[in-house]
Amino acid sequence: MVRTSPPQDEVSQWPLPCLGSGTTRLLGIFGDPVAHSLSPVIHNFSLNLLGLDYRYLPFHVAPSRLYDALQGFRILGGTGFNATVPHKEALLPWMDELSPAAARIGAVNTVHLQDRMIGHNTDAHGFLAALREEYPQHPTGKVLVLGAGGAARSVLSALLDTDCSAIFLANRTEQRAMDLARFFAPFDPDRRIKPLPLAVDQLPWEEVSLLVNTTSLGLKGEATLPVALHRLAPDCLVYDIVYGPQGTPLTRLASRHNLHAMDGLGMLIHQAAAAFSLWTQHEMPIAAVKAHLLRAR
Ligand code: ATR
Repeated sequence: MVRTSPPQDEVSQWPLPCLGSGTTRLLGIFGDPVAHSLSPVIHNFSLNLLGLDYRYLPFHVAPSRLYDALQGFRILGGTGFNATVPHKEALLPWMDELSPAAARIGAVNTVHLQDRMIGHNTDAHGFLAALREEYPQHPTGKVLVLGAGGAARSVLSALLDTDCSAIFLANRTEQRAMDLARFFAPFDPDRRIKPLPLAVDQLPWEEVSLLVNTTSLGLKGEATLPVALHRLAPDCLVYDIVYGPQGTPLTRLASRHNLHAMDGLGMLIHQAAAAFSLWTQHEMPIAAVKAHLLRAR
């Protein structure tokens, strides 16, 4: 199934891609907002590189129009789409079938339209694949996860599939952390998820080998996340699942503390790659995509 890709410099010499023909299949992303999404770049770059006759478009879908958009996309013969904020949970009841990952996480980020509408979730895969690509030894030992919103669900689901010994789940609203721990209890027989309030002084910074930020705090210029990076072990890895043009405020802070740090760009690419395989049965040229995005950064 895997095709070899033409060299990079050949790609840049291609003429502007034709927007489509009678055989072109439609992919896309539903979001509100959606204009900032890098997914169209990732997918269209990959489709062009592999010479696949699909186009991937961003669709600004308001929450009140989600069902209509879904039906419209289906009627137009679309192959599949990604869902981003705020649609991931809302799509769940409209699916004819859920993948085990989507059912466990309680959210859909990839829809595949065949005879039936199948809801998948590739975020947990993306989180772990990116982590293991850069730091194959991780996760190990104890992990501290900051935030218990929608994004934390995929991270927790992924971590529960690893050998990490404890997952401290710290959230400003402690009740949300407790609710998530209860939600995942059926998949957590050893009760590794330990909900905590986000009280900086009381978190077990010294004990963990991986710190994961799932909050979006700090990205839009708000107050930075309350963290005590100076208390982390020198070999602790800091993983922020959001991404920014020059890393994130947290990854930059971690680097100033001489800690290893990674942002969510790899996760974004790996979750996209899993969706791409589902829709096209081809492997995304991950290394070329990464190089392309880093060049544009
Ligand atoms: P997402 O789907 O991106 O995870 P979300 O469900 O709204 O979005 O969750 C946002 C997360 O960031 C939550 O864990 C939230 O904490 P609360 O549950 O207490 O709201 C966290 N967050 C947002 N603003 C924060 C702040 N100022 N300080 C600490 N945590 C914050």
